[in-house]
This record gives sequence, C-alpha cells and structure tokens, in this order.
Amino acid sequence: SKKAVLGPLVGAVDQGTSSTRFLVFNSKTAELLSHHQVEIKQEFPREGWVEQDPKEILHSVYECIEKTCEKLGQLNIDISNIKAIGVSNQRETTVVWDKLTGEPLYNAVVWLDLRTQSTVESLSKRIPGNNNFVKSKTGLPLSTYFSAVKLRWLLDNVRKVQKAVEEKRALFGTIDSWLIWSLTGGVNGGVHCTDVTNASRTMLFNIHSLEWDKQLCEFFGIPMEILPNVRSSSEIYGLMKISHSLKAGALEGVPISGCLGDQSAALVGQMCFQNGQAKNTYGTGCFLLCNTGHKCVFSDHGLLTTVAYKLGRDKPVYYALEGSVAIAGAVIRWLRDNLGIIESSEEIEKLAKEVGTSYGCYFVPAFSGLYAPYWEPSARGIICGLTQFTNKCHIAFAALEAVCFQTREILDAMNRDCGIPLSHLQVDGGMTSNKILMQLQADILYIPVVKPSMPETTALGAAMAAGAAEGVGVWSLEPEDLSAVTMERFEPQINAEESEIRYSTWKKAVMKSMGWVT
Ligand code: G3P
Repeated sequence: SKKAVLGPLVGAVDQGTSSTRFLVFNSKTAELLSHHQVEIKQEFPREGWVEQDPKEILHSVYECIEKTCEKLGQLNIDISNIKAIGVSNQRETTVVWDKLTGEPLYNAVVWLDLRTQSTVESLSKRIPGNNNFVKSKTGLPLSTYFSAVKLRWLLDNVRKVQKAVEEKRALFGTIDSWLIWSLTGGVNGGVHCTDVTNASRTMLFNIHSLEWDKQLCEFFGIPMEILPNVRSSSEIYGLMKISHSLKAGALEGVPISGCLGDQSAALVGQMCFQNGQAKNTYGTGCFLLCNTGHKCVFSDHGLLTTVAYKLGRDKPVYYALEGSVAIAGAVIRWLRDNLGIIESSEEIEKLAKEVGTSYGCYFVPAFSGLYAPYWEPSARGIICGLTQFTNKCHIAFAALEAVCFQTREILDAMNRDCGIPLSHLQVDGGMTSNKILMQLQADILYIPVVKPSMPETTALGAAMAAGAAEGVGVWSLEPEDLSAVTMERFEPQINAEESEIRYSTWKKAVMKSMGWVT
C-alpha cells in the first residue's frame, strides 16, 4: 500500500515520574500522529525514599519508540519523515553511572525522595555569608527536592559511586543526560550533556552566568568533572545511535535537538513566550510556571526562580517563576495502589461524580512534606473531617479538590509576586482529561480554566524545540504551526463566597498537616 505523504515529523520522548511516552507530531500543524506510553515502577525502599531503575527508564524509552514506529507503519506513515527528536523529562531525579560499562551505579534518586533531610539541615547551618547564598545564585531554596543533595548522598553512602569517582569513571546526570548519553551511543561515544532548564534544578547551576558554579560545587562537595556539559534547549546535541534493538534503531542517525525539563517544555508547548504568560501542568506533581522574560524575578511568597528556556545557542535566556506542588496525580495513584479504592486512575472521576462533594472531608496529600508556598518538610499527609457518613467517593472527591486547592495556593502567591492577577489559567497534563477536576479548578480559582484539546503539551514543547533547532529548521514556533490544537474552556460556576469558605477550611487542614516529623 502507498505511504501517506506528510510534512516533516518530529518525535518527542516525555519521560515523566509516573510514565514514559514517545510521541510523533506533524511539524506543520502540531497534530499528534501516534504515541505509546509505558508506566514506570517506583520503589519505596524505606519511609520517605523514592527510587527508580535507570535501566527500566531507558528500556521504556526504547519500547515506546518501537511501538510508536509500529503504529506509524500501520497508519502508512513513513518513519523516515522523522527529522528530529526532542527530550523532556522529570527534573531533579539523579543518576550516576559508569562511563566505561554504561551501568548505573545506584538507582535513580527521585525528586520526591526525602532521605536528604538531615543533609539539608546540616548544610543550612554551614551556609557561607548570608542565608541567600544558594537562593541568590540558583533561584532555589536549600531543599531535598533538588539534585545536589541527592548527589551528595550518593557520594557519601554508595561505595561504587565513590570508587568510580576516584577512578574517573563516574558521570552524573538528571534523566535527560542519562537518556541523551544512552541514545547517542552510550559507551560508544555517548554525548554527556544537559540543557539550561534541567541544570537550573540541580542547585549547582548559576542562573545568571548560565554555568556550573564553583562555589556551590565546593559547598555541596561535588567534583565538577562528573557534571554534564550545559547546552541550550534547542540545538543538535548528537545523533540517535541505538544498538539495543533493530526497530528502535529505525531512527538511527536522527538528530536529538531539543531538551527541556518537562515543566519548561509545557511552557513552550503552550506558547507562553510573553512576559506574564503562565501554565499549570497536572502530572505526578503540579507545576505552575509564569514567564518573566529576560529578568530573574525573586519571590517573596515561596516560589522558585528558574530557567524557562533558551531556544538556541545564540538565543536569549528566559526565566520563570514557578510554584511547585509535589503531589497531584500521585495522590490518585496512591488511592489505586495503596488503598485499592479504584482499579484504574480514570475511575476517580466516576467516584467523585457519584457524590459531587467531599462532604466536609479534606485530604492534604503532603506525602513528601509540602512544597510551594510552604517548603515544610515536616508536613505529612492527612485526611480530616471524617464522619460515619464519609465513604470512598467523598475521599476521591477530596483528593481531586486537594489538587485544585494546592493550585489555588500557588496562583495566589504568583499573583502577589507578579502584581497583575492572571485572568485565566492555561492548563495541561494527563489529569486535565478529568472534567470534574477542571470544573472544580475553575470554581476554586474563580477564573476560567483553558485547556488544549491535545493534553500532551510537554511532549509538544520538546518537539517544537527539536524541530526549531539550527540545522533542523522544520518548526518555526509561530502560532500557525499549532493549527491542530483547539481549546476548551471551563467557567467558574459557584459563587466566590462559597469558593472562599471551602478554601479557608482547606487552609485549616494544611496547618494540621504540619509538624508531624521533628
Ligand atoms: O520537578 C519534578 C517534575 O519535573 C516532575 O514532573 O510530570 O513527572 O509530575 P511530572
């Protein structure tokens, strides 16, 4: 049969905390032609610890590429039309591997992991000069969330890591670096790099000079030779070279030319290129980013300052203010895996719909402490306001409401920092297909919520960066290139007073969740 002819295509790997995807887009319309998704295991070896297997992550990428190529074949689409590949990834998650064998030297320590709490406490007593030392250089608070302390823990506790560092065999990277190194050949000449957005989440990167910071590396005791090269978010890093399997090898020689931390990728995918434009992505966690242009804006209300993107070696850098919520989709997975009140994540909507209210039940899912705007590692999850009337449907509803209340808290902080309140909220991510959640979000924010028909905005952003790279040039980053994306709007339906009452009870619940761990 004849193969369908299309414009140039661009692929994107989206390696998130809960799953990996590979997606292929038409660069002329942003139409999603095919994709495949694989769930990723999370290990919890001890209370507060969260690990993943870097090899499983890599193999999930191969599998997704393979299956997507198969599906394209069934659609009669020639995969030789794929002109570039972008990578977006869960940020901060830390991997150290051996450059001679290609073997990871320990599991990936996931961003949610809390094992470094005591490291953070002792480091914060030793901060040189004023307390602003870390924040003024990196835009970040000293927290278990970021890579530097995870890497410190690996250097202190894993003999294999220590030995490999001594013998100059160790490479450090966040998931983007691990994937790009592996996909460009691994032990056979793999490229060890990262982009400015991922680097800005390590606590080792100076967001003003856009370089690894010597003083920070000294402070955290990190040998600089194990760090990847920092590149822009849109340039050719290397070519695909996969020895692993023939089918994934079908993309052999295609340039990898886009790399962005997933939250930055979503900002690009939503075309938030102007100062003041913002998006909120509902994944494992929930992350609201507002573009602040070429200026680093420092928050007075618990938000982070981070690199938004730099779309080309000679292009300017853009910054963002970020409100990070650790647990959003993860609370649904917890209800599925730990309580078993649903069998699949989609069922949550049905349960919540049955009751249409939490009946006074509030669920603060502070499983990894609380991130923005509190940065309170001592918080732990609570479900409160229970009566004999409460059933699993109310708890399901309360879990969805929790995601919306947490977003409200960061939106409030963002509005205070920026001065001009957002008139609507652009959203994306897997959970946005849940209509109850979207309506609740509009009700709780009391502004309209706008979502694209195609929720895979993160992958789209990575594909756009890859397609726009110098030497690839198949994506112009103009709005016409997104003609396949339509928008759906959710207007607030309850009155502001009712919304305020619910929100203030939520805040009471948050106060109760704090101080559980001392
Ligand atoms: O900072 C962590 C973030 O990048 C994880 O994103 O989509 O896996 O929740 P996600």
